Formats: sequence, structure tokens, C-alpha cells
Amino acid sequence: MKQVITKDGSITFHSEEYDETYHSVSGAVEEAFKKFVEPALEFVKGKQEVRILDIGFGLGYNSAAAMDRILEANLHCEITIIGLEKDKEILDKIKELKPMIMTYHAIQEMVENNYKYNREGIKINLMVCDAVKAIKKVKGKFDIILHDPFSPKKNPELWTQAFFKELRKHIKKEGVLTTYSCAGEVRRNLKKAGFKVFDGPVVGRRAPGTIAVPITR
Ligand SMILES: C[S@@+](CC[C@H](N)C(=O)[O-])C[C@H]1O[C@@H](n2cnc3c(N)ncnc32)[C@H](O)[C@@H]1O
Repeated sequence: MKQVITKDGSITFHSEEYDETYHSVSGAVEEAFKKFVEPALEFVKGKQEVRILDIGFGLGYNSAAAMDRILEANLHCEITIIGLEKDKEILDKIKELKPMIMTYHAIQEMVENNYKYNREGIKINLMVCDAVKAIKKVKGKFDIILHDPFSPKKNPELWTQAFFKELRKHIKKEGVLTTYSCAGEVRRNLKKAGFKVFDGPVVGRRAPGTIAVPITR
């Protein structure tokens, strides 16, 4: 797996299997904060407890960026993260990295501790599994779903109407899903699965990401 230094100085890798990088080469950490986490923050404002589902956990940048921003707003907020990731090879890279994310040490400890972390109000449980199967075993509803597979063309099973329907079952009525693709097919599948979609921020490329909220009536 080849290491790639992205334009904000943070490290990502190139997957040979998918022939894609794990993050935008315009900035891996920037993408985590700006594309995935910041658009979700207004949905959890003032909450004392936030539950996050991280699909395609990879290097854990999205989850760590979410912890940073939520704790910056409220140091006492309790955070629970469930991550789904099928590839141990990428998880093994986590211990070598030093991204500019304050809470990344929790991700590193989680990997060292059999994919579990539970300390000072933060709980992380990473399931090493195929997300399509595992989503049926995930319990409870989430405030934030960070949806970050490889591209719809290369990783289609995580962009289907059926998979989004499973995610719809796991999102709180005031919750939010963020993803980087704005492709028409992706948005149609989200809508058919019971989400309303909006443009997310434009980060590092011309097209916006997608913010999806559940239709509740
Ligand atoms: C674009 S990368 C995600 C980067 C990651 N969110 C981060 O912050 O570092 C996509 C990830 O989805 C994982 N993935 C792809 N298909 C999967 C599946 N069916 N089940 C679980 N994980 C999957 C890949 O192994 C890869 O780590």
C-alpha cells in the first residue's frame, strides 16, 4: 500500500484493490473536518451525548475529527462511535500516523486494544467486517452517520438504495448523514431510502458533498 502526502501535509494511502486513494489528495485531514464533520455539527449542538456511525472507518480521520469538534464545543459531551471497516491492512497503518487531530491518540489506543476504547466519556467500538452484513447487527440509532466508502463506481455495495435503507433505520429523526459524493444516482438512492438531500460544502474540488437528513413524515 503506497503512502501519499496530500496537499494539507496529511498522509493517506493508495489502495491497489480499488485503485483509489483513501482520501482526497487535496487534503486528507481537511476533507475529514470540512466535508464530513463540520456540516454535521449544527445537528448535535447542545447535546450531552452524541452517537456516531462511521462507515468505511479507514484511518479513522473522520471519527477523530468529529471528536475534536464536538469536544471543542462541549468538553463534557459523551461520545459513542461505532466504526465499520473490512480491511485490517489499513487499520494497521493507524499506529504510524501523526495527523493534526487532537484526539487521534484515542483511535490509536483503540486499535492497540482489540478495536475497543472506553475512557473519559468516549467509547469506540470498531467492527472489522463487511458493512453490508454488519449493518444488520448494529444496535441503536445515531446522531451522525459518516458515510465514506470508495467511489460509487468502485465500491457500489455501500451506495445502494438497500444499504441506505439500512442506514435510514439507524439514524435519529434529528440526525444527519454526510458523504462526499453528489452523484445523481447516489442522491436518488438516498431519496428512495427515505432521506432528504442537500448540497454539502465544496472542499478541494468543484463538486459539493451531500448532506442527508431523514424524512420523518
Ligand atoms: C475512502 S476510504 C475511507 C477513509 C476513512 N473514512 C478515513 O477517515 O480514513 C473507504 C474505506 O471503506 C472500506 N470499505 C470498502 N468497502 C467496505 C465494506 N463493504 N465494508 C466495510 N468497509 C468497507 C475500505 O476498506 C476503506 O477503508
